[in-house]
Amino acid sequence: MKLLIVYATKNGVSKRACEMLAEKLASHATVELYDVKNDPPSPDGYDACVVGGSIRMTKLSKKLKAYLRANAKTLSNMPSAAFICCGLTNDFEDYVVTEIPKDIKFSLGVHCFGGELKTDRVRGMDKILTYFMRQSILTQDPDKSNRDMIELPEIFPDTIHALAERIRRLKQI
Ligand SMILES: Cc1cc2nc3c(=O)[nH]c(=O)nc-3n(C[C@H](O)[C@H](O)[C@H](O)COP(=O)(O)O)c2cc1C
Repeated sequence: MKLLIVYATKNGVSKRACEMLAEKLASHATVELYDVKNDPPSPDGYDACVVGGSIRMTKLSKKLKAYLRANAKTLSNMPSAAFICCGLTNDFEDYVVTEIPKDIKFSLGVHCFGGELKTDRVRGMDKILTYFMRQSILTQDPDKSNRDMIELPEIFPDTIHALAERIRRLKQI
């Protein structure tokens, strides 16, 4: 089977999540990975498609949204999944409502692939904003003694592996 994965990333987290998905499917499918910036092909002609990216300032990338709009019909008529990477993973459902076009039917679901808020992996303004987002999570619990127990976001390998399993189970074409 031929699988197309299209992602939008700023600091490489969504790309890494997609590479994990591709790796899981490598023995089962021919996987093509595209950054949405590099003019990805239409999903037409592929057996399945996974498309998504990261949230910045509550939004998905404009290029990714344009790709979704341009391919809405094709994605609705084939096995497809959408994903979001975000630092505030509790807000995932809100981002699905505001950022994923409702007219696209993703038969393989819309998934949260997790995300990261690591200041050592980003630069400039991104470093500052990442620091403040981290702090907002770390100070949510007024009991400071629990600070070490508060979980910062990570990529969700279980969600990625579960989606890989669903794709693997698609009827062989
Ligand atoms: C400038 C900036 C703005 C961000 N805004 C949000 C946001 O509004 N909501 C959220 O949940 N995460 C936000 N994040 C966190 C990112 O979604 C998270 O770091 C993600 O893993 C980035 O993935 P990427 O490297 O593929 O772009 C923001 C990160 C940066 C650097």
